[in-house]
Amino acid sequence: MSIYDAIADLYDPWSRTVVEDVSFYVEEARANGGPIVELGVGTGRIAVPTALAGVPVIGVDSSERMLAVCRQRAGEAGVAALLDLRLGDLRAPPVTERVHLVTCPFRALLHLHSDGERLEALAAVRGLLEPGGRFVFDVFAPSREDVEETNGRWLERERGIWERADWDVERRVLVLSVRGASGETRMRLAWLGLEEWGTLLERAGFEVVACYGWFDRTPHAGGEDSVWIARVSG
Ligand SMILES: C[S@@+](CC[C@H](N)C(=O)[O-])C[C@H]1O[C@@H](n2cnc3c(N)ncnc32)[C@H](O)[C@@H]1O
Repeated sequence: MSIYDAIADLYDPWSRTVVEDVSFYVEEARANGGPIVELGVGTGRIAVPTALAGVPVIGVDSSERMLAVCRQRAGEAGVAALLDLRLGDLRAPPVTERVHLVTCPFRALLHLHSDGERLEALAAVRGLLEPGGRFVFDVFAPSREDVEETNGRWLERERGIWERADWDVERRVLVLSVRGASGETRMRLAWLGLEEWGTLLERAGFEVVACYGWFDRTPHAGGEDSVWIARVSG
C-alpha cells in the first residue's frame, strides 16, 4: 500500500498545471535514446509524452493505483506498447536492463528521508546505467517566503482540490496534505540543500554535468527548484 494509492484518481487533476518540466524530460529522453528508466513514474505525466515522442520507457513506481492510471492513460494515447510499467521501490528497482538514461522527475526523491535511503537510491540508479550514462532529476527546497505564505493553510490548488503544507524548517520536513472529491492523503517530504545533493551524487559515483534552476536550463541561482544532470563518473 502506498500513500499515492488514495490519490491516484486525484493526481492528474491536482497536477494539471504542472507542465513546465515535460518538454525538458522528453528532450533528454530523445537525446539519449531509449529505453529509459523513469523512477516514480506515477500516472505517466511525463512517461506518456516521452513514449509519444517514440522513446520506450521502463516506469517504476511503488503505487499500484498510480501505475493503473498510467496504464490506462498510455492505452488511450496509443503508446501502451512503449511503456513497461513495474511495481517496485526506486531504491531497489525491478529492472535488470542497463540503460543510458534514468530519470526521477517532479521531486520524487523527496520521498526519501535519510542520506542512507538517498545513497541507496543513487547506488541503484548507478547500477542501472551503462558507462557514461546519465541520471536526470529535479528536487526542491522551499524559500522563506514560500514557507511563510503557505504554512498550515488549506489552499485551493485546483477547483475542488485542496492542499496544505506544514513546514518543519528545522528538520527540513514538509507534511503535505491533499484532498479532493476522489481521495485524500498526507505525505512527508524531506528536502536538502544544493551542496548536500552535490555531495551525495559525488559519494555515489556521479559527476555533476549541470545543475539548473529551471527546466529552461538556466543555471541555478538560489531558487527553490534544482534540476540536475549527473553522469556516471570514470
Ligand atoms: C510526485 S509523483 C511524480 C510522478 C511522475 N513522475 C510525475 O512527474 O508526475 C512521485 C511518484 O513517486 C512514487 N514513489 C514515491 N516513493 C517511491 C518509492 N520509494 N519507490 C517507487 N516509487 C515511489 C509515488 O508513488 C508517485 O507516483
